[in-house]
Amino acid sequence: MAGSNPQRLLLHCRNVLHGQLEVGLMARLLGIPDGQRVLQVGCGSGIALPHLSKVCKPRVMAGIDIDPTLLVEAKARVREKGIGAYLVRADVREMPFPDGSFDLVIDFGVCYHVKRPGDVLREVARVLDTSGTFVYETPVAQSLAHPMADRTRRLPWEDAPSLKTRRRQLLWASRTKGEFSRQWMFDAADERFASAPPI
Ligand SMILES: C[S@@+](CC[C@H](N)C(=O)[O-])C[C@H]1O[C@@H](n2cnc3c(N)ncnc32)[C@H](O)[C@@H]1O
Repeated sequence: MAGSNPQRLLLHCRNVLHGQLEVGLMARLLGIPDGQRVLQVGCGSGIALPHLSKVCKPRVMAGIDIDPTLLVEAKARVREKGIGAYLVRADVREMPFPDGSFDLVIDFGVCYHVKRPGDVLREVARVLDTSGTFVYETPVAQSLAHPMADRTRRLPWEDAPSLKTRRRQLLWASRTKGEFSRQWMFDAADERFASAPPI
């Protein structure tokens, strides 16, 4: 419930926008395939998890956050929605998962705010499987969310050279580790066909 407090109302509106609009739009624009092993880093109170579950239909769903209080909320949320998700307290710079555990890692801006963001990118690359994909917010999205923050902030991609640019759609972008997966190759082929002149 939003309650009458204006701050709570604002937060409620932001959460509705994040869950119901942002997640679906992002998945659609970036062409995220179904049935993957998905990890959300910095999942917080789990606002996005039910929407990610609905939109991405993951084979495995996991979330990590450093804040134990938020994780309690996230666990209650997924339980209430009947979603199977592994929710673990962890630092995104040192995650308790073996190499190559996920096909898709999603970050709604956390990597811009932690110290040593290069460690985040290296760790994301490590937990991604060969041809796995990292989805993250662009600096444009960050400028909209934090208009007063430093606009020159950039992520040190040189620290994770295996993450190669794949798509960029104004607010979100994706980087793929190594080769494109079959599914994503089909997407790329569709794009080429779409732009080819009709015969
Ligand atoms: C902008 S909030 C995201 C909130 C989330 N989308 C939600 O639904 O509540 C950023 C999140 O990143 C988490 N965070 C910050 N530093 C972190 C770190 N080093 N490792 C993991 N999570 C971190 C915070 O606790 C917070 O929940």
